[in-house]
Amino acid sequence: MSTKKRTAILISGRGSNMQSLVAAARAPDYPAEIVLVASNRPDAAGVAWAVEQGLPTVIIDHKGYGSRAAFERALQSALDTHHVELVALAGFMRLMTPEFVAHWQNRMINIHPSLLPSFKGLHTHEQAIAAGVKIAGCTVHYVRPEMDAGPIIAQAAVPVLSSDTAETLAAKILKVEHRVYPAALRLVAAGQVCCEGEKIVISSEVSQTNPLYSPVI
Ligand code: GRF
Repeated sequence: MSTKKRTAILISGRGSNMQSLVAAARAPDYPAEIVLVASNRPDAAGVAWAVEQGLPTVIIDHKGYGSRAAFERALQSALDTHHVELVALAGFMRLMTPEFVAHWQNRMINIHPSLLPSFKGLHTHEQAIAAGVKIAGCTVHYVRPEMDAGPIIAQAAVPVLSSDTAETLAAKILKVEHRVYPAALRLVAAGQVCCEGEKIVISSEVSQTNPLYSPVI
């Protein structure tokens, strides 16, 4: 029987991070397998891609539910049906109730296109440009009830040039997102990530010289 962690990816849009996780999970030694793609938007471009790839895909349109809790009950039921052990949010644009987040405590990860705790929320790249930072990047973290908060698992950095716009910065960061998210899921699925309080400690058995296991890219 496979010892790979059964992982669901939740999307709302384009799904390029989903694609990077799916590609990584095709490696025989990758410790997670993607057993479900779920979208809250029927028209998400990522849905068509997931279906084409033959991945089990479910649409749970939040507009069809009277409350956040009712939507989450439907989502949970899909996760249960597929015996999901880990959840990776990849451009999933719904806030979750504290109850749902607590159920998935330290089993649900997210990627955000800033070096958290800076620049939470929407218009992240505009915020970074407006602040004049010289380094920007992305963060993979465990999900907590507060938006874009939670123990930091991995980060990747890019330089911000004076010629950068929000669009060029977004494109640069997206490239490193596609490297750091698979690396972070690998760490989590391999059981190498330990939460000490609200800080992450990467298992000391892991070689820090192996870039696949480095929390910084
Ligand atoms: C990414 O920038 C991700 O960090 C953020 O939403 C965007 C989703 O892009 N949470 P994609 O759908 O993965 O292409």
